[in-house]
Amino acid sequence: MMTSLPFSAMLFAFLAVQLVLALVSSLATDALRSAVQNVDDCPSCLGLLASFQALAIAGDDVFITSFTSLCIGLGAADPDVCTGIIAREGPILAHDLRQINTTGQTAEKLCDALLGMCVTHPVNPFAVPFPKPPPAHPKAFMSRGRAPVRVVHISDVHIDRMYTMGAEANCTKSICCRDFVDSPVTPTVPAGPNGNGHCDSPVTLADSMLREVEKLDPEFSIFTGDVVEGAVWLVDQDEVTMDLAAFNAEMAAKLSAPVFPSLGNHDSAPVNAFARTTSNAANNSQFVYDTQSAGWEQWIKATAASEVRHMSGSYSAKVPGMDLRIIAVNTQFWYKQNFWLYDSDIFQPDPNGVIAFMVDALQAAEDAGDRAWIIGHIPLGKEDTLVDQSNYYDQVLQRYKNTVAGQFFGHSHKDQFEIAYSDYRNQTAENAVSVALIGPALTPTSGNPAFKVYEIDPDTFEVMDASVFFTNISDPTFQISPTWGLFYSARKTYGPLVGLPAKEPLSPAFWHNLTEVFERNNTAFQMFNTFLSRNGAVTACEDDCVNTTICDMRAFRSENNCDTPAPGFSLKRRANRVPSPDSDECEGTGLSHLLSRMVLSVL
Ligand SMILES: *[C@@H]1O[C@H](CO)[C@@H](O)[C@H](O)[C@H]1NC(C)=O
Ligand SMILES: *[C@@H]1O[C@H](CO)[C@@H](O)[C@H](O)[C@H]1NC(C)=O
Ligand SMILES: *[C@@H]1O[C@H](CO)[C@@H](O)[C@H](O)[C@H]1NC(C)=O
Ligand SMILES: *[C@@H]1O[C@H](CO)[C@@H](O)[C@H](O)[C@H]1NC(C)=O
Ligand SMILES: *[C@@H]1O[C@H](CO)[C@@H](O)[C@H](O)[C@H]1NC(C)=O
Ligand SMILES: *[C@@H]1O[C@H](CO)[C@@H](O)[C@H](O)[C@H]1NC(C)=O
Ligand SMILES: *[C@@H]1O[C@H](CO)[C@@H](O)[C@H](O)[C@H]1NC(C)=O
Ligand SMILES: *[C@@H]1O[C@H](CO)[C@@H](O)[C@H](O)[C@H]1NC(C)=O
Repeated sequence: MMTSLPFSAMLFAFLAVQLVLALVSSLATDALRSAVQNVDDCPSCLGLLASFQALAIAGDDVFITSFTSLCIGLGAADPDVCTGIIAREGPILAHDLRQINTTGQTAEKLCDALLGMCVTHPVNPFAVPFPKPPPAHPKAFMSRGRAPVRVVHISDVHIDRMYTMGAEANCTKSICCRDFVDSPVTPTVPAGPNGNGHCDSPVTLADSMLREVEKLDPEFSIFTGDVVEGAVWLVDQDEVTMDLAAFNAEMAAKLSAPVFPSLGNHDSAPVNAFARTTSNAANNSQFVYDTQSAGWEQWIKATAASEVRHMSGSYSAKVPGMDLRIIAVNTQFWYKQNFWLYDSDIFQPDPNGVIAFMVDALQAAEDAGDRAWIIGHIPLGKEDTLVDQSNYYDQVLQRYKNTVAGQFFGHSHKDQFEIAYSDYRNQTAENAVSVALIGPALTPTSGNPAFKVYEIDPDTFEVMDASVFFTNISDPTFQISPTWGLFYSARKTYGPLVGLPAKEPLSPAFWHNLTEVFERNNTAFQMFNTFLSRNGAVTACEDDCVNTTICDMRAFRSENNCDTPAPGFSLKRRANRVPSPDSDECEGTGLSHLLSRMVLSVL
């Protein structure tokens, strides 16, 4: 039919459609502008979602065009950033809004994710099913005092393969040191060869770290995710696939011991986007699972590699020669900024069955008399994890506390820890059941590049010491050749403050007692505060901030942290980019950051 129309008629029809689209978009942009202007609490945020919903129903094109023009008009970010982010993440948000009631719980959660509003609703009760009750006589794992084995923990490498030496390092985007469309011809601050605090890691920096890790001769390494750089407005599936494969190849070439990796929220395209199986979406990140299944098989072996492919990126693998299993979980199904989680009003306690997978893997470990380490990207205690799944994960931990000998995460870019308690209303050393150790980042955007080195008891698989190794980006020799060295050892630095007896592990009780030291000894707390960024990007923390930071150390369940913002507060904090030392800076310039800046610009 169409082919029989004369060309001019087709052109006319095309132009008419474009004109209508432009008109609708411009009306829609005005409507959106007034909705944005009115946002200052939960009901007005839901009102904004209703305006967005009307646009979404008009179609993805109208939605994206209007949202983008308002983003640019309000100066929320550079035009290329507004355009790129909304083109990538916008269709997911539009898809959500077409499926949900804008006054329901899902909409409230979406407001929480987008603007830090409507955050007050409680955990949806759900009892995680377990195949067996806890054993009456749990196996005792006894240290025989053998020499510890060494394990290296790397995280958040964020390698920018388009890092360009000499490019502008002082730009208005979340990362610099690249030739962007709007980069100046003559840079004011040219990027050096080995990295810059405003930029993600050049390949040279990652290579230098891997060589240092190899020198330390670990038994094995763990990697807690985020390979891909932070120019999220440009990242696409091809880049993610290449970035993941390239880093797998580099680890394989430079490290002789196995690596047990896990997926980060940046390791997909668009950023944070991991679709639920129930979304029935073609865009379900299977390309990520396939890439990592193939890339990781050399270390985790065939069964686990098949799990990566079929279990949305999670796996359980035995460490060669040890009674230890590594259970890697895809934490992005519990991450507020994964906008695929909001496309239904039907509440799902366990998206993609990740929690059920953990239960099965832990039951298998318990049955075999093995111990297990859980590794993942996003630690569950912060405000960026949904309270529901954080609570259910904690139930799993309580059930298998005798099996879980360690938990390791990344994401915050900071050297931190979070403690789980059998009774969160009675937080004592006795009640501390597990501790999550959080690895610092390689990327220099949040402080000096670093990784952690653990000394592990080979019988209990408990951590005897945790040391941070770093390279100093401010040192004059850094641009010539990064020099790595010990920053501090937790046992040597914190042990005497806590009164840790020789031969005792850095147990959950030890970390709890350390939080008590921090409460009464501000000098010790301030030292911890400088350690967060390896003394590379220290944020002052006094008074209420100390209290909040210690409270957050005692919260492996996100419902127990002290981050819960008053309406509007988180908005200002997020948009002004003055995070407290404990908050999550890692989301960068995603959709929620843009929207926060849009609302703030008209407040
Ligand atoms: C899914 O991918 C297709 C093709 O790349 C794209 O057109 C569509 O907008 C995407 N849908 C969502 C919800 O992101
Ligand atoms: C949306 O949910 C509210 C209650 O939260 C209900 O009163 C209303 O009827 C629902 N709307 C639709 C279209 O289902
Ligand atoms: C970075 O750029 C800003 C303006 O964009 C300017 O005010 C500042 O002085 C620059 N910093 C350096 C070190 O050149
Ligand atoms: C708190 O836990 C301790 C064990 O550490 C226990 O002795 C005490 O009775 C508990 N207190 C309350 C109020 O539950
Ligand atoms: C890094 O180097 C700078 C410049 O030499 C120095 O002032 C700073 O104290 C060093 N930082 C650390 C953590 O060693
Ligand atoms: C923690 O402190 C309690 C109470 O002071 C003490 O009984 C316990 O031995 C300490 N545990 C560790 C591991 O330091
Ligand atoms: C407080 O901590 C500092 C180390 O940061 C230590 O030197 C000092 O002895 C501690 N004070 C007390 C009273 O334990
Ligand atoms: C924080 O402050 C509150 C209220 O002042 C107090 O109840 C709580 O014990 C403090 N927590 C810590 C860890 O200092």
